[in-house]
Amino acid sequence: MSGAVSRNPDEAQRVALTADALAGLSAARKTLPCKWLYDAEGAALFEAITRLPEYYPTRTELQILQDSGQEIARAVGPGAAVVEFGPGDGAKAVELLGALSAPAAYLPVDIAPEWLEAAASRVASAFPGLRVRPVVADFTHPFELAGRADGSVRLLGFFPGSTIGNFESDDAVTFLRRTRGTLGCGAHMLLGVDLVKEAGLLVAAYDDSAGVTAAFNLNLLARLNRELGADFDLSGFFHRAMWNADKERIEMHLVARRMQTVSLAGRKFRFASGETIHTESSHKYRPERLRAMAEAAGWRAADMWTDPKGLFSVWLLAD
Ligand code: AVI
Repeated sequence: MSGAVSRNPDEAQRVALTADALAGLSAARKTLPCKWLYDAEGAALFEAITRLPEYYPTRTELQILQDSGQEIARAVGPGAAVVEFGPGDGAKAVELLGALSAPAAYLPVDIAPEWLEAAASRVASAFPGLRVRPVVADFTHPFELAGRADGSVRLLGFFPGSTIGNFESDDAVTFLRRTRGTLGCGAHMLLGVDLVKEAGLLVAAYDDSAGVTAAFNLNLLARLNRELGADFDLSGFFHRAMWNADKERIEMHLVARRMQTVSLAGRKFRFASGETIHTESSHKYRPERLRAMAEAAGWRAADMWTDPKGLFSVWLLAD
């Protein structure tokens, strides 16, 4: 055994959260990485967001998968194994697998084993004969699929929900390039991408009238209090969603209502009144830009489906 100190996953997570919070709150423009929005409470709030009347992406994408399932299945061909990145509750995978011809297996990939379980058991009960092989990995970093999928099976990557929009554009290209390597020869990738549209619709989707997105955003400060003993006064901040037209992205911020000082991990952070913490970017794409990004990553944009209002798109990328 090596002499290295082994940390349990919770401790490693706490160390990483502390490092990100200290770095983000020390920056000239305060920021916190959006991945920390998803503790158990954040994940439950996100599920609630996906059912809000203003949040069109989830139901629109599901509708596209339903309406275009046969065409997608024809383009992919029979016998593919589906590798889903960040499968959530598995509902979209059930839709896709139901349309595909003789899928060989389902491999949901996520860093949190407990989240894989929901998707795996939903898919396993919908398709009792299907091989379901959850893969615990952080798909934002390189990881191996070797040994998990039969080498002779063609893989279909599945990355729905426009989660790619939460990456900076350079990171999105890096992810697509790396994923092409992970999936190997002859692979396809089915990618959900939210489209640029009228700002009013976008802002409403990220600042709903029931305040669920506000609660989702503010939960990040509550999490820092719970897990790191920070002393954020939640009533001292409010949620703002704004359309950044130059960068074609929705930004979520937490805005300080007044001047205040917050303690975290032995450090003090001062906020001016109106100062913000940038907590998430959700990039929206024009089809030509997405196509260029896919090609820069070595994929061919083989097909694209959208809904009648042109709100959302589902892309089939081919190796
Ligand atoms: C997970 N991700 C694609 C969502 C989005 O639309 O960017 C997260 C979200 N943030 C606020 N509402 C939903």
